[in-house]
Amino acid sequence: MPKLIVVTRNGEERELDGDAGLSVMEVIRDGGIDEILALCGGCCSCATCHVHVDPEFAAKLPPMSEDENDLLDSSSDRNETSRLSCQIPFTDALDGLKIRIAEED
Ligand code: FES
Repeated sequence: MPKLIVVTRNGEERELDGDAGLSVMEVIRDGGIDEILALCGGCCSCATCHVHVDPEFAAKLPPMSEDENDLLDSSSDRNETSRLSCQIPFTDALDGLKIRIAEED
């Protein structure tokens, strides 16, 4: 089972077992971390699942859609490592992926 490392807003690091097939947002939520609101349920319309992805994994992520890009523009915490976690399918290839939960907008 691939592992996801999550750094919470207060800097705590948690290691979660994620089912491949879930999105990164779902792995975080199912792991009991309540800092991700995921208000739209994963359909790329709320941006409350914003995370920062370790640049080491950037090349392994699926490309960003125009919708995701537009939504991220609404966040004041956006930078080049920003992604919406509901738009990243969690796979075995992402084992050890490290993400940090973005600041709340
Ligand atoms: S959960 Fe709403 S955009 Fe990801």
